[in-house]
Amino acid sequence: MTLRISVIGTSYLGSTLAAGMAEFGHQVIGVDIVPEVVKQLNAGQPHIFENGLEQLLEQHTATGRLRFTLDYDDIADWADVHFLALGTPARADGSADLSQLHAAIGSLAPKLTRPTLIVGRSTVPVGTAIDLQQRIRALAPAGDAVELAWQPEFLRESMAVTDTLRPDRLVFGVQSDQALRLLEQVYAIPLTEETPVITCDLATAELIKQAANTFLATKISFINAMAQLCQVAGGDVTVLADALGLDKRIGREHLSPGLGFGGGCFPKDIRALAVRADELGVDVLSDLIKSVEAINDTQRVELAELAIDQVGGDATGKKVAVLGAAFKPGTDDTRNSPALTVADHLHDRGAIVEVYDPQAHLAQRDGFTQVGSVAEAVRNADIVLHLTEWPEFRYLDPEQLGTLVNNKIIIDGRLKLHAPTWHEAGWKLVQIGRASTL
Ligand code: UDX
Repeated sequence: MTLRISVIGTSYLGSTLAAGMAEFGHQVIGVDIVPEVVKQLNAGQPHIFENGLEQLLEQHTATGRLRFTLDYDDIADWADVHFLALGTPARADGSADLSQLHAAIGSLAPKLTRPTLIVGRSTVPVGTAIDLQQRIRALAPAGDAVELAWQPEFLRESMAVTDTLRPDRLVFGVQSDQALRLLEQVYAIPLTEETPVITCDLATAELIKQAANTFLATKISFINAMAQLCQVAGGDVTVLADALGLDKRIGREHLSPGLGFGGGCFPKDIRALAVRADELGVDVLSDLIKSVEAINDTQRVELAELAIDQVGGDATGKKVAVLGAAFKPGTDDTRNSPALTVADHLHDRGAIVEVYDPQAHLAQRDGFTQVGSVAEAVRNADIVLHLTEWPEFRYLDPEQLGTLVNNKIIIDGRLKLHAPTWHEAGWKLVQIGRASTL
């Protein structure tokens, strides 16, 4: 059954969700407050780089099944379901800033005159949904006939389209059978493909998302702590991770050692959970998260310091080539990028830093330069740093690069380069977490 769906907010989550809902066969209107974004999306052009999104947008804006608007009047009484896909950035104290959600509700709720389901998708502190529902009901002419459900998203940037169309699970935080039935209609297609569904209350739904991100971040920090141990004790952390990963109870996903996690989700979401746990007096959880963060921060600093050691202990005037700026491959997103933290650190220590990334476009940054190719970045470099594991970096030709650099030294911050090939070409290749390469 075709439903009328609005998606409020059109960033990574919202634009992919809107396109995905159209792909499921629904009529969809996306809402944003930025005129240029709405214009671009209506022309079928994504304003972010995300695999497969352009094709879906082009297809569904062309058929008229999907459009975008600035005007809440276009959606308020039109839609059967409103999705809230707004950002919840960190405030200075690490807690989640809910102002985008509040603003959207302030615009939408006073226009709701008939029974409606609103579905929150953002990552929020536990207790937020109940509070938002009270606000909505107080503002909406339809009052208690407006219900709020919470359905956390689990999509990964670079895989967002796949994760939207073929989720590995659906979590429906609902308060009534009616809301559940409507969500089952929204997701009729993945449900026919036997996608597992967890139905729960609003608080559990909110917590599932924060717990999932915190658990994954903990896995990454655990393997990075083991990498630090391998480095001093001997041992190969990649082999260790492969062996651990074969235990089905552990699994190999999110157990890749290296520079640690960045991006728009893990750092912010785990901090927000720590703040909330503190507020609620659950110190054991906030202590655990603080350790996870401390390990993650250490990885970046250690790599930068390792680079300084490799160029003789003083970075002043040394040319450093940084390969990668995005927080992970497959995206142009540089939010909380480990690669850029390392670049900043080295610049602060006097190095001349040149960064190349296949997708990310850096805003004008004081201190270092973004260049248009690997060759430009490495020309006359005193050291090369491999910091975001784009596939194209894995297949670089060390012989050819060796003719461009000052020193054949490379640090592989993502443990993805084939060490023997680089060694054969006369490079010193240093991989964090592998004692033998130091
Ligand atoms: C994450 C969650 O995976 C997703 O479910 C949630 O909805 C949003 O947050 P995302 O931030 O897109 O998604 O990226 P992810 O692929 O999980 O990687 C996060 C960070 O961890 C990246 O910086 C990545 O380089 C790093 N990472 C990931 C590791 O260092 N090691 C790993 O094994 C995996």
